[in-house]
Amino acid sequence: MHRFPLEPDRTAMMKMGRLVLDRVVDRTENLAARPASSPLSPQTETGLVQSFLALPPAQGGELKDLLARLDEAADCALETAGPGHLAYIPGSGLYSAALAEFYNRAVNRYGGLASVAPALAALEESVIRWMAREVCGLPVGSGGLLTSGGSMATLCATVAARHNRLGEDLADGTVYTTAFAHHSVAKAARLAGIRAAHIRTVPHTPDLRMDPRAAAAMIRADRAAGLRPFLLVATAGTTDTGTIDPLPQLADLARREDVWFHIDAAYGGFFRLTSRGDERLAGFEEADSITLDPHKTLFMPFGTGALVVRDLAALHAAHDGTGSYLQDMQAAGSVPDSSRLGPELTHEIRGLRVWLPLHLHGVDAFREALDEKLDLAAHVHDTLSGVTQLELPQRPDLSTVIFRVRPADGSQAAAELADEASRRLLERINGHRRVVLSSTVVDGRYTLRVCVVSHRTHHDRITEALKIITAEARNIPTA
Ligand SMILES: Cc1ncc(COP(=O)(O)O)c(C=O)c1O
Repeated sequence: MHRFPLEPDRTAMMKMGRLVLDRVVDRTENLAARPASSPLSPQTETGLVQSFLALPPAQGGELKDLLARLDEAADCALETAGPGHLAYIPGSGLYSAALAEFYNRAVNRYGGLASVAPALAALEESVIRWMAREVCGLPVGSGGLLTSGGSMATLCATVAARHNRLGEDLADGTVYTTAFAHHSVAKAARLAGIRAAHIRTVPHTPDLRMDPRAAAAMIRADRAAGLRPFLLVATAGTTDTGTIDPLPQLADLARREDVWFHIDAAYGGFFRLTSRGDERLAGFEEADSITLDPHKTLFMPFGTGALVVRDLAALHAAHDGTGSYLQDMQAAGSVPDSSRLGPELTHEIRGLRVWLPLHLHGVDAFREALDEKLDLAAHVHDTLSGVTQLELPQRPDLSTVIFRVRPADGSQAAAELADEASRRLLERINGHRRVVLSSTVVDGRYTLRVCVVSHRTHHDRITEALKIITAEARNIPTA
C-alpha cells in the first residue's frame, strides 16, 4: 500500500490541500520582502539544478518534504510574481486565478468541444466575447480563441490570414512588420510556411513607429514584382519600448491594399480598458485579428493568451478538422468548438481562470490597476528625466520607460563608452535585488527599460526603484 494512494479520502485530500494552501499563502504574503532575483551560481547549477534532473522513485515520498523541495526550486528564480519585477513584460499571476485553476484542474472538464461541457464552454465564450467586443471593439460576428500565450495567438492569426488570402499557394506570400515587432511574428510566418526572405522589415519613423508610407511603398513594389502581399502586422505596445504603431493609418493602408491587418497587442491590448489607453490605442476596431495576452496585462498566470478575429469564419476555415472517432459528439450549439479554431484538441477550460477573477473582482478593478501602471510609468519618466547622467529617448506610450547613460558628445566612441556604462548601471541596479530591470537595443544603442505591469507594483516599490536608479546613475563618472 502506497502512503499516498492515487485516490486519497476526504481527510487526506483536506490535509494535502491545506499543506499546499499554507505554502502558497505564505509565499504570496512574503512576496514584497523576497529578493527580486536569485543569481544562478555555479554551485546552484551543479547542486540544486542537477538534483531536479533525478528520475521519479518507485515508492512515493512525503508531500511536506516535496513541497519544501519545490520551494527551493521556486526560490532559485527571478521573482516574476513580485512587485520588484520590472523586466521584460512582467506577468504577475492573480491569486484568484490560481484558485480558479485549482478548481479547474480538479474538476477536469474537457475544453476542446463545446458539447462536452456546454455551460463551461459558454463561460469561456463570454470571456472571448468580452475581449473581442468590449476590449477591442470588434463587431458581432467576431470571436476568437484562448491560447497558451501571445506567440500561439499570432501563429493562429497568421495561419488564418494565409488561408484567407493565399489559399494553398504560399510561395509568393509576403508579410510586413517592423524591426520592433516581437520575434514571434517572424516565427509565426515561418511556421505558417512563409519564406524567411518574404518577411519584410518596414522602416520606422524617428519615434520608433512603423512608417505607413514606407509600408505602402514596399507592398506596392512587391506586388509589382509579382509577389503576393497578404499580411500587415502592427504592434500595439512593442516589447522593447511599449511604442504603439500608427494603427488607424495602417488599418487604412491594409484596407486599400487588400491585406489582412493583424495587431500584436500582447502587451498593450488591455490598456484599452483605461481612458488614456483607449485614446492611444484607437484603430483596434479596424483590425482583422488581434493578439492579446491576459498573462501580461490582465495579471493572469503564465499560459493564458488570446486571439480575437473580426470574422470567426476565417479562423474556423483555416483550422477546422474532425475524425470519425468524434461522430458521437453533438454538433456545436451557440458556442463554437475551440478545437476547430486552433491547432489543439484536448485542453482545459482555459477561460475559467480568466472568468473567475473578472467576476470576482469586477472589470473596474483591472481598469484601475492598469491606470495605476500608466501613472507609475509617467512618474518614472518624469523623475529620470531630471537625472543629468541619463538620457530618455522618448515619453512612454504605455507603461515602459526607456533610458540610458548620456554620451559625453555625439561621437561613436562616446556612444560606445556610454553603452558600456549603461551595461554596468543595469548590473548595479539589479545587484540591489529589490528590482529587476532588463535591457534592449534601440537604434543601435544599449538601452535600459523599466516595464511596470505587475498588479503588485505600487508607488512604494517605484519610489524605491527610482532611489536606486538615481543613486547609481549619479555614481557614473562623467567623461
Ligand atoms: C508584443 C509582444 N508580442 C508577443 C509576445 C509573445 O507572447 P508570449 O510570450 O505570451 O508567447 C510578447 C511577449 O513578451 C510581446 O511582448
